[in-house]
Amino acid sequence: MKITSSEYIISAVGPGQYPEDGLPEIALAGRSNVGKSSLINKLINRKNLARTSGQPGKTRALNYYLINQEFYFVDLPGYGFAKVSKEIRNEWAKFIERYLEKREVLKGVIHIIDIRHEPSKEDLMMHDWLLHLGIEVLTVITKADKLSRNQQGNMVKKIKQGLKLGTSERYAVFSSETGQGKEDVLAWVEEMCQGEKG
Ligand code: GTP
Ligand code: MG
Repeated sequence: MKITSSEYIISAVGPGQYPEDGLPEIALAGRSNVGKSSLINKLINRKNLARTSGQPGKTRALNYYLINQEFYFVDLPGYGFAKVSKEIRNEWAKFIERYLEKREVLKGVIHIIDIRHEPSKEDLMMHDWLLHLGIEVLTVITKADKLSRNQQGNMVKKIKQGLKLGTSERYAVFSSETGQGKEDVLAWVEEMCQGEKG
């Protein structure tokens, strides 16, 4: 797939603000600061359309980006950010859960994991939750540029074990710096959105 246009649409803070045009949606999930916004920017070849920051926990809404006038990337709030209160964290969790459970046009979730760390308890919970809901998942192991190819192989193995990734479950090794894995991610997105066109 070639991305020829991308446009920021809205930071939705509630279901009333979600688009109603029926276009398919691909959501990005992952812990705070893992590189969700950077992945979107890399896929669409824009430096900073999806806002990135060194300040984790900044994304508190569902950020919608319209791609090729055909589908949306939905940047979800990051989980696991320790510096916000428990109440706020629970609120975000409920907000994300409701979206994942109820959103009919959701075609798949890109679940992003940092290649340098074994999956956290929350990473595993998110993965299991997505499977439980019957949502198509692509696990994207990002920041690959931070490790040598050898180290990448070792960590990918550990992360697959940590998430209990089955042989039929899809994953890609990615870097927003080098673009490694970009084509794999785009091919999966295209596949997930295609069901729409019949
Ligand atoms: P929140 O919206 O706060 O949850 O964060 P996020 O998941 O959107 O992360 P973001 O894309 O803002 O990236 C966080 C930091 O990681 C930034 O400093 C990025 O430059 C850096 N980063 C993201 N992806 C990569 C990558 O593939 N390689 C390297 N080296 N750095 C990355
Ligand atoms: Mg972000």
